[in-house]
Amino acid sequence: MTTREWVIVNPGGARRVVVTKELPGERWLQLLTAADCRVEIAQGDDVLSEAEIAAAIGDYAGAAIGQLTEPWGALLLETLAAAGARVYSQYAVGYDNVDVAAATRLGLPVGNTPGVLTETTAEMAVALTFAAARRLPEGERMMRAGAYHGWLPTMLLGTLLYRGTLGIVGAGRIGAAYARMMVGGHKMDLVYNDVRVNEELEHYVADYAAFLVAHGEAPVTCRRAATLEELLRACDVVSIHAALTAETHHLIGAPELTAMKDEAVLVNASRGPLLDEAALVAHCRARPGFRAGLDVYEREPHMAPGLAELDNVVLVPHLGSATTWTREGMATLAAANAAAVLQGWPVWPAVAGREDVAPFLDDPQPPRAAPSIVNAVELGLPRLAAQAQAKEDQS
Ligand code: DGY
Repeated sequence: MTTREWVIVNPGGARRVVVTKELPGERWLQLLTAADCRVEIAQGDDVLSEAEIAAAIGDYAGAAIGQLTEPWGALLLETLAAAGARVYSQYAVGYDNVDVAAATRLGLPVGNTPGVLTETTAEMAVALTFAAARRLPEGERMMRAGAYHGWLPTMLLGTLLYRGTLGIVGAGRIGAAYARMMVGGHKMDLVYNDVRVNEELEHYVADYAAFLVAHGEAPVTCRRAATLEELLRACDVVSIHAALTAETHHLIGAPELTAMKDEAVLVNASRGPLLDEAALVAHCRARPGFRAGLDVYEREPHMAPGLAELDNVVLVPHLGSATTWTREGMATLAAANAAAVLQGWPVWPAVAGREDVAPFLDDPQPPRAAPSIVNAVELGLPRLAAQAQAKEDQS
């Protein structure tokens, strides 16, 4: 077994922070260094095992910044708490790999990185939608193979989305951003399925509809489907944006795929296990006119057998948040969460679904608060008072 290399930044820092992957940008390291942290960063692209992370935490650590690919279950969180750590900070907005209930039992705040990847991930869902609908990878493969021999009326015909019907499964931050892009850009009618009514999204579409009418165009519509099946039957495009939980595992399987239109487009840029990948392979084989665009996979980094051979599926490797600005911003937020808890600072005021994290990213003097702690309520953590925030905004 080879020994892993660790880079140590600010070796004299009093608070030890274990970081399981190198993160982009500089600001995150500045935040931790300013909080008197000794930052230990694992090198290498492979995923650290549970045992390796536990060994790295050792007997003493103030915090850990970990990845969505790692198993932050009860064992690692107990190891972290036993080492005296005060916080686990996840370098992602999603935290289905973290046993938050166990962390709460242990009194350990869990940080995540909302707000900085909303539009970025929504844009990836848009890119996958059009890549699948307009068969871009097939065209690209044709060009590279020298197989384009001239324009033909029937070559690689795809699907026009303009004025079609768009379905989003989950109308949270990213789902709503994607919906706004598709409705606003391509005048699609919107159907959404969510346990909650998204009033803000409904108003947005209603205002846009009024704008279109004022310009002599037909309006667009928005409605919340009573059931997932109703949405699947109605839509030309269905994009999955729900969180992965025990209840949403395989939310879309063979019966749901069968309920969809034969020439529909299905997009998943949320979490792989929401979609039964083997069922998707069978469905796409049987219906060449059906198209899918996937950013995430059930058993990442692996794919279900047969998926890679399908022409009607577009595949990218979990790139939803992969822009420099977003990934650096995620690093900043992950570090800010760790540094704030270590310094005993409160949590940034929550505005569900509309986190304004800009002050953490841009201000030379970021707020003295943790941007996002997912179990703040359960742990009874104080929030930065609204007045204090307003004062900070003015200064
Ligand atoms: C997240 O942050 O949860 C994303 O999946 C990363 O792209």
